[in-house]
This record gives sequence, structure tokens and C-alpha cells, in this order.
Amino acid sequence: MSIEAKEEFRPKIVAFCCNWCSYAGADLAGSSRLSYPADVKIIRVPCSCRVNPMFILRAFERGADGVIMCGCHPGDCHYTSGNYYARRRMTLLFSMLDFIGVENGRTRVEWVSAAEGARFSATMHEFVDKIRSLGKNVRLEDLRCRN
Ligand code: FES
Repeated sequence: MSIEAKEEFRPKIVAFCCNWCSYAGADLAGSSRLSYPADVKIIRVPCSCRVNPMFILRAFERGADGVIMCGCHPGDCHYTSGNYYARRRMTLLFSMLDFIGVENGRTRVEWVSAAEGARFSATMHEFVDKIRSLGKNVRLEDLRCRN
């Protein structure tokens, strides 16, 4: 057995967090000394509706094993209805991901408020465990770039 096979699988997780709730929730988790896995790389966005579906496809193309989008709870969006648009967009995108070879469990939408540091931490632990159980993702390829 090679050394690589013995090493624990460390998934690459991208978390898009809206500035007003989820990012503040992550911050609260940190200041409350609650841990979340270092495999999670947070990208702060102004609102969950700023997350273009192409960002998620791009993350998978660049080698992400899982992508999670976090925003304010429905009704609490700083921009009134941004998360409703984001939710619809993601539902549509997630329904198509399976078709292009990305399993269902590799993506997730979660609402985390600025007061829910513990929820943020628990969600990230749960998501990382799920991705670990799914294993490494097959990298998406742009077929137009093949020789
Ligand atoms: Fe948080 Fe819109 S500002 S989802």
C-alpha cells in the first residue's frame, strides 16, 4: 500500500457565505472558540444571490470536492429577497449537477444567521463528513479544451 493511500482523505470544500449573516456566523464560531474543519475555504459574498451558478461549476472544475452556499434565513436577507432568488437558482443547478457527473451530496444550501456560530460549526463538520464518505470528486473538465 502506498503512503498516499494511507493518508486520510482531506476534501477541498468551498463555502460561499453572505456577508451579513453566514460570514458573521462563521466569525462568531471563531470568536466562540468553536472549531470547523480547515478543509473549508470560505468565500465571502455580499449576498447569497451574488453566487452565480457558474461559480459552483468553476469550483468543481478547479478541483473542489464539495461546495456549500450559506446565506441569511428566508425573510432575513439584507437585500430583502436575494436568498429567494439564490434558493431557486441553486435548486435548478443542483438538479442538473447529477447529469454532468457531480453527485447530489456534494452541494448544499444552508441558512445560517449571524447569531448561529454553533450551527455554522456543526453544519461544516457535517458537510465535511458527508464529502469524506463520498470520496474524491472527479474533476469537471471543459471538453472544448481537450485535444
Ligand atoms: Fe445574506 Fe442576502 S444578505 S442572503
